[in-house]
Order: sequence, then C-alpha cells, then structure tokens
Amino acid sequence: MKILITGGAGYVGSACLRYVAAQGHEVMAYDNLVMGHREAVDDHPLVVGDIADTALLTKTLKDFGADAVMHFAAATYVGESVEDPEYHYRNNVGGTLSLLNAMRAADVKRLLFSSTCATYGMTESETMSETTPQDPFSPYARTKLAVEWMIRDFAEAYGMGFTLLRYFNASGADPDGRHGEDHRPENHLIPLVLEVPLGQRDKIMVFGDDYPTPDGTCIRDYVHTQDLASAHLLAIMATDVTTREVFNIGTGNGQSVMQIIEACEKVTGQTIAREIVERRPGDPPRLVAKPDKLKTQLGWEPQYSDIEKTIQTAWSWHKANPNGYGGD
Ligand SMILES: NC(=O)c1ccc[n+]([C@@H]2O[C@H](COP(=O)([O-])OP(=O)(O)OC[C@H]3O[C@@H](n4cnc5c(N)ncnc54)[C@H](O)[C@@H]3O)[C@@H](O)[C@H]2O)c1
Repeated sequence: MKILITGGAGYVGSACLRYVAAQGHEVMAYDNLVMGHREAVDDHPLVVGDIADTALLTKTLKDFGADAVMHFAAATYVGESVEDPEYHYRNNVGGTLSLLNAMRAADVKRLLFSSTCATYGMTESETMSETTPQDPFSPYARTKLAVEWMIRDFAEAYGMGFTLLRYFNASGADPDGRHGEDHRPENHLIPLVLEVPLGQRDKIMVFGDDYPTPDGTCIRDYVHTQDLASAHLLAIMATDVTTREVFNIGTGNGQSVMQIIEACEKVTGQTIAREIVERRPGDPPRLVAKPDKLKTQLGWEPQYSDIEKTIQTAWSWHKANPNGYGGD
C-alpha cells in the first residue's frame, strides 16, 4: 500500500512511518517541519510543505499514487491553543479541510486521523471507551473534535472511508535508540522528568497533588509509539471506502505523575528532585483508555504494558541524544 503521512517528521508520525515502511509499505512524509525533524524520516521521501497548500498536497498525492493518508499534522500545545486559538483552528481545522479537498481532487478515499483522549469529558468510570461522551477541555481538543465531525460529514457526502484514532499519552522511543521524542519546547511528562538526570533541569514541577487520585497527582495512560504504530498499521489495513470507525489507543493502565517520577528514578538509578506547585487549569484528574475495542476488533496487543520498559526506551534515546535530533 502507498501511504502519505502528514506530520510524518513529527514524534508519533515518524514512528508510524518507520514502522509501516519496515512492514513493506511505501510511505511518503509530508511535513512543514515547524515541529518535525528531517532526520526522523531517515531515507524515506519527504515533501516539505504545509497541509494548507491544497495544490501541493493534491499534486503530491497524485504523483505518489497514494492509496491512503495517515493524518498526524497538527498544532498540539494545549497552552498555546488557549493563547492563540486562531492558529490552532486554522492549522488543525483549516489544514484538515485543505487535506480533505486534496484527497477528493486526487481521488484518495482512505484516511486515518490522529484524534485524542482529550476530546472526552469528565467521566465517573475508571476508563474511557469510545462511547464516553465527548466534551473537550481546551481549544486544542475542540479542534480535534471539530475535525472528527468534519471527516464524518465528508465521508458521508463524498464517499470516503475513515478511522479516527483517539490516542492517550504517546511515550517511549524506538528500540533502535536512534529515534525518539524531540519537541521544542518539550511539554510531555516523561522527557521532562528525564531532563533532571540528564542535568538539563534542576527539578520537575508537579502540578497539583490534591486531585481525587490515590497519591493526589494526575493519572494518564502512557502508550508506547511502537504500539501506536502497530495500531495504525492494523487500522489502515482494515479501512476501506465504507469504513466509519473510531478506536481508543491506550494500554488500559494508568500511571500517576508520582509513579512516573519513581519509575524514571528506577530506570536511571538517580534521585529526581520534584516540587509540588499549583494545579494547572484544565488538567483532568484521570485519563485512562478502555482499549478493548481495538483488541477484539483488530487484534491489537500492546508490547509495552510495563511502564519501566517504555521509560527505558526513552532513556536510551535521550542519553544518546541529549539535545535531540541534529544534536543542536
Ligand atoms: N503526542 C501525544 O501524546 C498525542 C496524544 C494524542 C493525540 N496526538 C496527536 O497526534 C499527532 C502527532 O502528535 P506528535 O506528538 O507527534 O506531534 P508533533 O508536533 O511531534 O508532530 C506533528 C507534526 O506535524 C507537523 N505539522 C504541523 N502543522 C503542519 C502543517 N500545517 N503542515 C504540515 N505539517 C505540519 C509538524 O512539523 C510536526 O512534524 C497530532 O495530531 C496530535 O494532536 C498526540
């Protein structure tokens, strides 16, 4: 299969690109490199372009002969989305509108979309299933929900098939130690915690320890990028022009902020200083997946259910590449 991967030079997109290519599929990354890294794509083809550029996207899809699109490209910082919602709506909603128009023009009818658990609202239950009501907390998450609806409407009207994948917290690095997370600035917990033993940060800030959780800190579901990638491969193979699907991708196990810090201490063998500070607005206490549908319907089995194993891959990457891709 020939798969165009928007955001293919980013953290999750590039992990999926490398995984899918290793399974024998032809891939092409399409990324404006605002956040992505050329090195993350290895020697696979990369078109440097913006998803807002419908003409370039259409030409790229046609020239490549794409059978399907995996759509990762997006602005992802929650805080930025509060300060600058215009950019998030323009990039995420406007950009996806451009992509859908390019797909129509190039007659590409299969789409995977990177959605998020942040589209769910508060729930009383321990885990979130695909039918948990959606009520996003941030402008970022609202753009993702808006895109979900836009894709559904386009699919009905113009005969496209889609699978929406709602990720929980992407984490870890490739087992080869050469590829991993490099966001600038970094905003994900595990790489931030690992900056302490790397000597790049004095201490890790813990935003609130008075949540209704066993140790008072927020609980998240950390899913390894290799497991995200295997879910994408299963999903794209199962998506045809009639498909209208949605799956959670998460392990089903929650880890608190404190548990992540302790696991990082075990993996690195170092004590990690921390400081408890005020809660951040809009952090839900608990976001944990019920991943049963992905397992039963597509046969997905995560390989990284042990958080220390996941952190070990991240630690190997960060130790070998303390300044990320390019070493700068
Ligand atoms: N990382 C997570 O934990 C997580 C959780 C849930 C959902 N997601 C979603 O998964 C996707 C990938 O996340 P990530 O962590 O890899 O982010 P990332 O920032 O590493 O990757 C996004 C990529 O898209 C590119 N991009 C952004 N806007 C673009 C545009 N207009 N045109 C072309 N390229 C553009 C960036 O350069 C970057 O390479 C995003 O859609 C995100 O919303 C991520």
